Amino acid sequence: MHFSVFKIMAIENIDKKLPEKFDWEELYLDQKFSPRITSNTDLEPYQELRNLQNLQDQEVTFSGWVYQKRSSGKIIFLMFRDGSGDIQAIVEKSNVSIETWDLANEITIETSLQLSGKIKADSRSELGFEMSVTKIKIIQIAPEFPINKEDHGPDFLLDHRHLWLRTSKQRAILKIRDEIFYSLTTFLRNDGFVRIDTPIFQPVSCEDTSELFEVNYFGEKTYLTQSGQLYCEAAEFALGKTYDFGPVFRAEKSKTRKHLIEFWMMDAELPFTPLKGLMDFEEKLAKYIIQSVLKNCVFELKILERDTKMLEKYVNESFVRKTHREIIDLLNDKFQLGLGYLDDIGAPEEAKLAELYDLPIFISDWPAEIKAFYMPRYDDGQMMRVKAVDLMAGEGFGEIMGGAEREYDYNKLLDVLKEKKYPYEDYAWYMELRKFGTIPHSGFGIGLERMVRWITGIKHIRETIPFPRMLNRLYP
Ligand code: 4AD
Ligand code: MG
Repeated sequence: MHFSVFKIMAIENIDKKLPEKFDWEELYLDQKFSPRITSNTDLEPYQELRNLQNLQDQEVTFSGWVYQKRSSGKIIFLMFRDGSGDIQAIVEKSNVSIETWDLANEITIETSLQLSGKIKADSRSELGFEMSVTKIKIIQIAPEFPINKEDHGPDFLLDHRHLWLRTSKQRAILKIRDEIFYSLTTFLRNDGFVRIDTPIFQPVSCEDTSELFEVNYFGEKTYLTQSGQLYCEAAEFALGKTYDFGPVFRAEKSKTRKHLIEFWMMDAELPFTPLKGLMDFEEKLAKYIIQSVLKNCVFELKILERDTKMLEKYVNESFVRKTHREIIDLLNDKFQLGLGYLDDIGAPEEAKLAELYDLPIFISDWPAEIKAFYMPRYDDGQMMRVKAVDLMAGEGFGEIMGGAEREYDYNKLLDVLKEKKYPYEDYAWYMELRKFGTIPHSGFGIGLERMVRWITGIKHIRETIPFPRMLNRLYP
C-alpha cells in the first residue's frame, strides 16, 4: 500500500513535474519493512560468491539478495546474488529449525539477507554449485518488487532503471562494459600510453558547434565537452602517446538506437603516425578488447545469448578497408541507393554494408565538407577530401571509432578556420601547438557504449550505460 504510493511518484517524476502536494505520512514504509538489524556489527562475518570454487564442502555465510523464489511444500529454492556471483540456495524444512523455516517463508523478491550453509558441487546447476541453507539472517524484507516476470515495456523499465540494473541481463551488460573499459585501458597502458584527463568545461568546439550544450560559467558562455581531443593533442606534445577517457555531451536531436546525449569517450593521440598506422592500431585494439571479453565474460555472453562465433571471427580475420568513394560506388552498384559522393554513411547504409561484409569495415578518405576542421585536406581531382577514417562495426552496429590525421601545418589550418569563420581567439592555444615544434600525428575516439552495444549484441544503446541520458529521458 505504502509502496505503491512511492511507485506512482517515481513514475510521475519522469520528465514531468513533481506532484505539487504529497502527503509525507503516506510515504512511510510499514514497520514490517524496516531493517531487522540495527547496525553493521549485527552482521555475521561473510564470504564473497566470486570465491565459490574454493568454498566447496565448507560451511559459509554470504550477504546479498534473493531474486527468485520457488517452493514445493517442504523445500524452498532461493536464487541468491551478492553482486560478485549467484547461487541457488536450498532450504529444506527437515534440515532447519522452525525459526529458520519461518524466515525462509517470509522472504520476498529483493529481500536483503545473510544466508549460511554448506556449499555442494552440483552438476545439474548451471552455476556448478548450490548451497544447503542452515541459517538465515534477514536484513530487510522487501515490499513487492515492481519488476517481475511480466513483459514490461521499455518505458516502464527505464523509469525503474535503478531497479532494472539488478536483473541478470542488465548485470551481464554492465560486467562486459567494465571488461571493455578495463581491457581498453590495459592495452593502452601496456603500449606506453599516458592517461591525461581533459576538461569537461570547454570554450571551444571540437566536432560541430550545433551539438554543444551551453553552460553559464560565472556569466561567461562555455560548453560541455564533445571530445577531449584538442586538449589530448596538447598533452601529446609533452608526453607522446596520450589518451583520455571521460563523459562527453552532445545535444544531438537524434532518437536512434545508437545515440546518447551523454556518453563515455576515449580519445587517443598517436604522434608521428599516418592513417594506415592508425587503422592498424585501432584494429589491434578492437581485437584485444573482444578477446578479453571472450575470455573473461563467458557467463555474461551466455546470458545475453551473444553469437560468440561472430566475435571470434572479428578476432581472427582482417577487417575490411575501403575508401568513402569505393563504399559509395559499391552501395550504388549493389543496391541502387543513388548516393552522391558527398553523402554521409547513415543507419540505412550501414545496414546494407552488413549484407555485403560480415567483418568490421574501415572507411577512409571522407569528403572534407562533412568532417571536422582539424583533418588534413587534399584534392582528389574532383573534391576536397580529408585523411579521416571511421570504423564500422560488424553486423550493422554502425560507427564505433572515429579518427583522422591532424592538420599539422599552421598556415593550412588557419585557412580552414578562416573559411569556417571560427573565432580565432578560441583556437589560439590549439594553433600554437602547430607553431612550436609541430609534428604529423593522428588520433581517434571510441564511444564506449557503441563498443558495448556491438560486443554484447544489445539492440539499443540505452541498455549499455547505467543511467542513460537521451532526448526524452533524464530520470532517474
Ligand atoms: O566520431 P566522433 O564524433 O569523433 C570525435 O569526437 C573525435 N574528436 C575523436 C578523436 O579523434 N579523438 O566520436 C567518436 C566516437 C564515435 O565513433 C562513436 O563511437 C561515438 O564517439 N559517438 C557516440 N556514441 C553515442 N552517442 C552519440 N551521440 C555518439 N556520437 C559519437
Ligand atoms: Mg564520427
